Amino acid sequence: MTAPPRVLLGIGGGIAAYKACELLRLLTESGCDVQPLPTDSALRFVGAATWEALSGHPVATDVWTAVPDVPHVRLGRNADLVVVAPATADLLAKAAHGRADDLLTATLLTARCPLLYAPAMHTEMWDHPATRDNVATLRRRGAIVLDPAVGRLTGADSGPGRLPEPAEIADLAQLLLARPDALPRDLAGVRVLISAGGTREPLDPVRFFGNRSSGRQGYALARVAAARGATVSVVAANVALPDPAGARMLRAGTAEQLHEAMLGAAADADVIVMAAAVADFRPRDARQHKIKKDGGDPDPVVLARNPDILTELVRSRRTGQIVVGFAAETGDAEGDVVAHGRAKLARKGCDLLVVNAVGDGRAFEVGTNEAVILAADGTSVEVTHGPKARLAAAILDAVSARLGERAG
Ligand code: CTP
Repeated sequence: MTAPPRVLLGIGGGIAAYKACELLRLLTESGCDVQPLPTDSALRFVGAATWEALSGHPVATDVWTAVPDVPHVRLGRNADLVVVAPATADLLAKAAHGRADDLLTATLLTARCPLLYAPAMHTEMWDHPATRDNVATLRRRGAIVLDPAVGRLTGADSGPGRLPEPAEIADLAQLLLARPDALPRDLAGVRVLISAGGTREPLDPVRFFGNRSSGRQGYALARVAAARGATVSVVAANVALPDPAGARMLRAGTAEQLHEAMLGAAADADVIVMAAAVADFRPRDARQHKIKKDGGDPDPVVLARNPDILTELVRSRRTGQIVVGFAAETGDAEGDVVAHGRAKLARKGCDLLVVNAVGDGRAFEVGTNEAVILAADGTSVEVTHGPKARLAAAILDAVSARLGERAG
């Protein structure tokens, strides 16, 4: 049996400390051994008993506890990952300046594993040039500093500064444990537009034709792209998940609305990913009133063709723009999943096509995926079964390589 991954969870003194309890829970439930490292201020929000009970480890805030063990050195050296959530303005400042006046900050200097900071603070503090400089310094040194989410802050105020959802942080933590090199800052300045979810085509005010896409793969792409520095816009079609932190969100319900939103936003994008599952057909005349079974409507389901958004995006693509499509295939008598994928890539004309094998409970409404990334230049990359964030990172690797070629 392999040892569980060792994660240090640094907790800063902000109200979002209470959300770190949920993060700790998610990490331990996914098999990590988590050592909480709260600051003294964090303990004013959530007490030591909570951290100790949830983690199974004693907690200390200073370097004077268990001195013969030299805890800040032992912890840092043995860690596979450090996550700091919430990373307050003060903690970011201390980390950027190499201060080491408590157990957490001292350990940040001894750790040689990936460092993931999830900031949370008031908007003014996040926007302050001092904080921006500290974040830039940490990023330049290779730490991953997420952008905060936008939304309700401590009191009645709202804006950028909210801690990203614990599930999002846990997802990126898992990605870094599986692939420590998965979040380089290679997409800084790159504008990425992603469609996610599945369209719903109304038949009447009550019913619709939909599909089983949950939006998880599209949101994982948004999250990973944002963590790699991209400016991310998402067009979400019927997604019931928390918004990915740092992404600009647009909404669409039907294929026609998604078509309008994607074509409207495409001109400003360097990379476009069509991860949404789009209905090829819609009821031609959605009824104003609920269809009654004995209501005398002779044939309520007459279908009309929806636009092929991906094909149109390819047709109107700017020079240098990279377009990525998805294909959910089952394979049949005509060919296997990859053969269908190759044919679709040629038909659609995109740069990359991510081909998922679906059916038998695979891909839809689950957190994992496996795929082959086919490229127009004939190459392909196989991504074995794993979290959707890992597939997202592999897709963005392929995108990044092509952006590099085009720039060079
Ligand atoms: N797509 C799109 N517009 C549509 C249908 C699909 O933009 N009306 C996009 C999807 O977002 C995906 C890709 O095209 O990126 C492939 O989707 P898929 O449903 O597999 O392909 P179809 O074009 O519907 O082909 P077929 O029905 O023949 O499998």
